[in-house]
Amino acid sequence: QAFFRPILSAAPPSPTKRHTKISVIGTGNVGMAIAQTILTQDLTDELVLVDAKPDKLLGEMLDLRHAAAFLPRTKIIADVNYGVTAGSDLCIVTAGARQMPGETRLNLLHRNVSLYRAIIPPLVKYSPETILLIVSNPVDILTYVAWKLSGFPSNRVIGSGTNLDSSRFRFLIADHLDVNAQDVQAYIVGEHGDSSVALWSSISVGGVPILSFLHKQEIAYEKETLENIHKEVIDGAYEVIRLKGYTSWAIGYSVASLARTLLRDQRSIHPVSVIAKGFYGIEDGDVFLSLPAQLGRSGVLGVANIHMNDEETRRLQSSAATILELIGQLEI
Ligand code: NAI
Ligand code: LAC
Repeated sequence: QAFFRPILSAAPPSPTKRHTKISVIGTGNVGMAIAQTILTQDLTDELVLVDAKPDKLLGEMLDLRHAAAFLPRTKIIADVNYGVTAGSDLCIVTAGARQMPGETRLNLLHRNVSLYRAIIPPLVKYSPETILLIVSNPVDILTYVAWKLSGFPSNRVIGSGTNLDSSRFRFLIADHLDVNAQDVQAYIVGEHGDSSVALWSSISVGGVPILSFLHKQEIAYEKETLENIHKEVIDGAYEVIRLKGYTSWAIGYSVASLARTLLRDQRSIHPVSVIAKGFYGIEDGDVFLSLPAQLGRSGVLGVANIHMNDEETRRLQSSAATILELIGQLEI
C-alpha cells in the first residue's frame, strides 16, 4: 500500500530533469564549509564526501544528514573509496595540508602535489566528463598539476583562485565607501597569494568607475590608500589564520558561487585560475593563474578582455613568472 494515496491516476512523467552530483574531496574546515553552503543553497541532487579519515568522514556525513528537516532534499553519501564519486558533474578538491600561522601558501606545494598524485587519477577514472574545481593550496600550481595529471582539456580544470580575494577586495572597498559590496565590480587577478594584482583601473561602483567616483564624491584618496586596501586583501588570510587557525566560511561561499555558475550554466564572469598562456602578454609556459573568466556547464567558456593599464599588466606578468618558476621545479 503506497504511503500516500494518489489523488489522480498515475501522474504524467515529469520532464527528465538532469540529476546533478557534486563530490567534495577533503572534509576538513574548507570542504565542510563548501558542503554546508552547497546544501543550504540547494545546488545539487547528490552530494558525495570523500576523505582519508573514515570516522571524521562518516561523522560529517551523519551530521549533515541530521539537518534534513531544514534543508532541500539532497542525497548525501560518503566513502573513503573514490568509486562513490562515479558520474560526478563537479569534483571539488580541498584535500591537503593547510598553512600553519606564518606559512605561505607556496610552502604547501610539495606536500600537496604528492597528495594530488593519489587523488586526481581516481576522480578521472570514475568521472571522465567531470569538471575539476581545485581549492587546495597553492591553488594555482595545484590546478596546473590537476590539469596535467587528469589529461582533461583546460576548460574543465579550474582553480578557485582569486574569486575569494576579489570578494575580500569588494568588501574592503564597499566598507571604505559605505556601499553594498554587491554593487562593487572589482577584480583581483594573478596568483591567489602574495603576488596578486588589484585591477584598480577597471573597478566600478554602481557602474561608475571608482577613480572618477572618488573624485566626483570629493572623497580624499591617494594611491597609498588604495594600495593599503590591496595589502589588507593579501594579509587577510594570514590574519584569519593567526586568529582562528584556518579560513573556511568565505572560501565556502566563494566555491559554492562557482558551483552554481558552473552547474546552472549561469555564464557569469569570475576571477578564477585558468590556463593563462596567450593572454595579457603571458607567452611562456603553461601557467594557471586567475583571470576574469566566463563560466558555464562546460567549464571555462572564455577569458574576458578586461582593460589593464601597463602597471597592472606588468604585475600580472610578474605573478605569472613566480608561478611558472615553481611549476618548472615539478616533474608531473
Ligand atoms: P584541513 O586539515 O581541515 O582538511 C584537510 C582534509 O584533507 C583533512 O580532512 C584530511 O583528512 C584530508 N586529506 C588529506 N589527505 C587526503 C587524501 N589523500 N585523500 C582525501 N582526503 C585527504 O584543512 P583545510 O583548512 O580544510 O584546508 C584544506 C586546503 O584548502 C589547504 O590546502 C588550504 O590551504 C586550502 N585553502 C584554500 C583556499 C583558497 O582560497 N584556495 C582557502 C582556504 C583554504
Ligand atoms: C585563503 C588562504 C587560506 O583563505 O588560501 O585565502
